[in-house]
Amino acid sequence: MSTYYITTPIYYVNDKPHIGHAYTTILADVLARYHRELGDEVFFLTGLDEHGQKVQQAAEARGVGSQQHCDEMAPRFLELWDKLGISYDDFIRTTEDRHKTIVQQVLQAVYDSGDIYKGEYEGWYSVSEERFISDKERETGEFRDVRKIKEPNYYFKMGKYQEQLVQYIHDHPEFILPPHRRNEILGKLREPIDDLCISRPKSRLEWGVEIPFDTDYVTYVWFDALLNYVSAPGYGSNEETFGKWWPADVHLIGKDILMTHAIYWPTMLFSAGIPLPKCIFAHGWWLTEKDDGEAEKMSKSLGNVVNPLDLIDQYGVDPVRYYLMREMVLGQDSNFSLSSFIKRYNSDLANDLGNLVSRVNRLITRNFDGKLPRAGEEEKSDAALRNTGESIGAIVAGKIEEMKVNEAVETTIEFVRSINIYLEQHKPWMLLKTEEGPGKARAGTVLFYAAEAVRLALQLLHPIMPDKVRELLGMVGDHNPDFTTAAWGRLKSGVGLNEFTAPFPRIEVERDSTPREKKEPKLEKEEPKVSDNLISYDDFIKVDLKIAEIIGAEKIEKADKLLKLQVKVGDEQRQIVAGLAGHYTLEELPGKKIVIVANLAPAKIRGVESQGMLLAADDGETLSLLSLDRDITSGAKVR
Ligand code: ME8
Ligand code: MG
Repeated sequence: MSTYYITTPIYYVNDKPHIGHAYTTILADVLARYHRELGDEVFFLTGLDEHGQKVQQAAEARGVGSQQHCDEMAPRFLELWDKLGISYDDFIRTTEDRHKTIVQQVLQAVYDSGDIYKGEYEGWYSVSEERFISDKERETGEFRDVRKIKEPNYYFKMGKYQEQLVQYIHDHPEFILPPHRRNEILGKLREPIDDLCISRPKSRLEWGVEIPFDTDYVTYVWFDALLNYVSAPGYGSNEETFGKWWPADVHLIGKDILMTHAIYWPTMLFSAGIPLPKCIFAHGWWLTEKDDGEAEKMSKSLGNVVNPLDLIDQYGVDPVRYYLMREMVLGQDSNFSLSSFIKRYNSDLANDLGNLVSRVNRLITRNFDGKLPRAGEEEKSDAALRNTGESIGAIVAGKIEEMKVNEAVETTIEFVRSINIYLEQHKPWMLLKTEEGPGKARAGTVLFYAAEAVRLALQLLHPIMPDKVRELLGMVGDHNPDFTTAAWGRLKSGVGLNEFTAPFPRIEVERDSTPREKKEPKLEKEEPKVSDNLISYDDFIKVDLKIAEIIGAEKIEKADKLLKLQVKVGDEQRQIVAGLAGHYTLEELPGKKIVIVANLAPAKIRGVESQGMLLAADDGETLSLLSLDRDITSGAKVR
């Protein structure tokens, strides 16, 4: 069995967590879960960075002691991780003794080996980044809260390890990923790097780990924080566990802390004689759109953060996890917006996945006593679906190994779409109309294959949406899922299905004919004003509602949801494009009398002219045309 040790950054406790922190932690959780399901033994570490100037300042601002501040902030992170279903194995806080002891132990060892010296330094210090910055960095204007500081301090001979580090990066192409980040670091290392100031005089900052060889000083927060990655698995305290987990398989970080992880950390490890982690993977940033349309990083100090709890409360945890994983191409920046969240949710979760499970479940419930039907003889297209099902697990695992989580999700959802297409091809609902007989048996086979394929897709989505997947699996008859094998053939005929409840009800957004405003809808929940939703009778009467009779229905090429209808409105014939595919068959529509909006301006939908719109009700699963309770001639007015 192989082991997999994954870490997140330990977050500053100067404020409550935001969506950026949630993102890294969910990503680590998804990777940890995938690896557990692949059969690896996993150690997933996250935690909090509780020392340093930022935290001390935050505590002062709140008028409480630093430790008290940390103790009050920590539960906020823990509660959020709990809510988000984060399956961490250890949660480290740098104010814990188990960590502080190790920081002191390493400092002493590095000091004894001659890699730490005392010197005086004058330079620019960025409080927000908690590090000295070069003149060049200061000129970029990217650093906030910069001040000049001159004081005697202890220095770590980082420069001494520069060549060794460059060599190491060349010899280990997987050490810094994605490759453009490796190049960024190699670029930086082309110029000489300074030694690292690793102490702060207590007179200026008292909130830190005391330097063991000079009690007038505390340890610089990064020299303290980075060591969490070794103190937690047992460095210096438990050789056995440390040997088991170290070196870490991946330190997952945001690109904002690449320098400290790819330069400070490996040189510290060189000096302490500890092997380097296998991989430092830096993902991009979630950006938000400013009022002027520019994108900027979401960050606590800019005050433009999305509170993950608001999103979760409104839409549920698993859709949020899904969106974050599906939307960010690992290594690149992504724009976070509520409208893209809703779009993704409706298309992938409500439509593709939700409708598929709904269809399979309902057809089986209504026609096979709610028990999985028997699979009869396998036809060619069944075999094709099975073959895809049998190979998809390996493809998804490969994407995970390559840290392409978004592609892993995309591949799985594509498979879901192919199951929908399989159903469209075989139309079990039509086969079932032939009563008992061969039609019903064949429908049973098709539904069994569809159910088994959905089960596989769900299994692959389990690391992303653990709760929803469990619910959905019960609805296709897998009551005791075994996530460690993705092989075809787990479902058993005769097993009862759980009752269907809509897992992802569609999120309705107001359709508006006025051009969409640039600004995103607000995340804070606002009480809707009643008057905003009222229209006058005069407004209502402008809508010309009429009875129409459907006289023909056709598919529209490359638009799997749309049908082209011919309708008769009195003496007039019209063409209307409507999203009925999958809800009504082509055969059952002609003859139906429905309600249409007759005075809607004609529009081209997917290149097909639509003269009006029909009325239908939609609860996210079932779509139902408005029809009449007694016959009436077409063209009649509705009011
Ligand atoms: O830097 N988009 O803590 P921190 C994506 N304590 N990820 C984001 C993000 C955004 N807009 N904003 C934050 C620290 N993150 C140090 C780390 S590790 C030994 C010490 C995530 O609270 C991302 O992972 O500022 C980033 O690296 C991290 O939060 C920074 O968290
Ligand atoms: Mg930061």
